[in-house]
Amino acid sequence: MAKTTSTDIAYAAILTAVNIILLAVVLPPTGTIQITFLSNTLVFLFLVAFIGYGLGKIGDGTLILAETISLVFIMVHAGGYLLTWTFIRDQVLFSLLIFAVGIAVGSSFFKNIHLDLKLRLSREHIDHRTVLVGGIGIAGFTLLLTYLVSMIGELSTNPLIYALPATRYGLLFSLLNGTILTILLGDELISKPLLTILGSVLVYLSGLSVPLVIAVVRLRRPEYVISKRQEITLGTIIRKLKNSRWIKGRGKLSIGIELGKENNHVVVVGASGTGKSYLCKKIISQLRRYDIPVLVIDVHGEYGSIEEANIITPIGNPINILDDMGKMPEVRAREVADLISTAFRLGNVQRLALMQLISELYMRKTNPTLDDLEELIEEYLTSSKELGSFDKEVLKSLLPYVRSLRPKNKLARWVLPEEILGNKVTVVDLSVVNDMSLIKIYVETLLESVFHTAQLMRRGLFIVIEEVHRFSSKGKKSIIPRLFMEGRKFGIAVVAVTQDPLSVEPAVFTNTKVIISYVIPEASSSSYMARIFSGNDLVKYKKLREVLTSLKQFEALVWIRGDENVYVVKT
Ligand SMILES: Nc1ncnc2c1ncn2[C@@H]1O[C@H](COP(=O)(O)OP(=O)(O)OP(=O)(O)O)[C@@H](O)[C@H]1O
Ligand SMILES: [Mg+2]
Repeated sequence: MAKTTSTDIAYAAILTAVNIILLAVVLPPTGTIQITFLSNTLVFLFLVAFIGYGLGKIGDGTLILAETISLVFIMVHAGGYLLTWTFIRDQVLFSLLIFAVGIAVGSSFFKNIHLDLKLRLSREHIDHRTVLVGGIGIAGFTLLLTYLVSMIGELSTNPLIYALPATRYGLLFSLLNGTILTILLGDELISKPLLTILGSVLVYLSGLSVPLVIAVVRLRRPEYVISKRQEITLGTIIRKLKNSRWIKGRGKLSIGIELGKENNHVVVVGASGTGKSYLCKKIISQLRRYDIPVLVIDVHGEYGSIEEANIITPIGNPINILDDMGKMPEVRAREVADLISTAFRLGNVQRLALMQLISELYMRKTNPTLDDLEELIEEYLTSSKELGSFDKEVLKSLLPYVRSLRPKNKLARWVLPEEILGNKVTVVDLSVVNDMSLIKIYVETLLESVFHTAQLMRRGLFIVIEEVHRFSSKGKKSIIPRLFMEGRKFGIAVVAVTQDPLSVEPAVFTNTKVIISYVIPEASSSSYMARIFSGNDLVKYKKLREVLTSLKQFEALVWIRGDENVYVVKT
């Protein structure tokens, strides 16, 4: 769902207007406004700082960056007519400094610039040739337009606006704008001549201002509403336990969700074949109505039939375990070494060696891959160089594990967390892999990377995790409890499914909003769940334990944090 960002357009339009007025004021006396250079400069600097501050508050980093570039060019261009180079340089530096102060005061959103571009550039349909052809094409059209309009412009009183794109800087900006447009719109732009012409008009009208182009294109960017209150219906209420007494229920039971604002996690428990996955699919189809993206960790390969599901697998869509996820190298090196050694049950010496190797890799190279790690190990094995006090045998023993993690499929396409957050439903089909160690490493890395990206993008995401006890068991390190504890802040909600509540890390239960339990015949598990549902109320505990072992087919007990009732619901 593309959301209209009218503020973006309004601000970019204002900025473009300001650019043109500034040019008219600062340029030699072709403009109509004549003030002394000193007062011009003062007004100019004040405006720049003010815009920087204003934009910083609004938080649109892309606009700030684009406008900074455009202002620098304007100053150089304008100054070139008036004063010496040293003076101009000082003016530019000074105004940039003031601009930066304005931004620094107002903005904490700079990482969005990086992410936005990364998101766009990672699109499959963008290749360098397209961008080049589009950039030059649009610049060419713009020049043509300039020529045509300048003929009319001769009759006009203000030649500045008409002649502007024909200057050297104007041309440079047309090229820049054209390239940006092509990056953002991709193939579509090239394949539709009308769009190319419209793009040229847009570039022409925006003069020297890049932001207008960006703003208009951003109209198309899908955005998810994070904090609107929405509801998910679980089923029909059969009865409810109120003040330790059962009362006949009526109506449907719905849970409110408000991503980013409150904890929205759900845990679904129950014996095999009771209806857990069925309920999850029902939840997913309701989330789709609200345009909330969903990621399913599908252990058994049973979610593939969901409409419009984008299916990925560890084989066809590998993920780089050595990605630093925006963390400090030492921190990430430790995490990766822990992850690999836990999954493969490596010894402590192997774990430490791995950690040191990965740390060294991060120092040598940005964005290393497992190939680089293998190369590094082989380098140590073949040369006389020592890695700390580690035996060569230890290093050698690591090689098979590193190799088993490397992507084998030549046609593989790396997983892009940005796409998961942008797609409606992404299903990770794990049924194609048998090795549980590889599955664990894949899922942990994927969740880590999605969590990292979600923090930057703040789009909201529901993650359904089947068989959660396999990934987050008691006492084992995993990102899943962290998703339960910190996910809310970034609009992440988890639906965790398990047959074995006793094995699941307790933090999952203590941080969830809703717990749904189907029948659990097994005594220790049903007692455990009854205790979670009843707090310290013994009467309630006994009643709930009895119900948990005797629930009918497709009936579930539903506990909602903050609600004094416990419901029996037909799902
Ligand atoms: N509310 C329901 N109404 C009708 N059929 C249902 C309902 N819930 C589940 N079923 C059916 O019951 C069967 C088992 O359900 P489901 O696969 O969801 O069980 P599960 O709890 O996920 O089992 P497992 O733990 O083995 O994965 C499925 O065929 C499903 O279609
Ligand atoms: Mg299931």
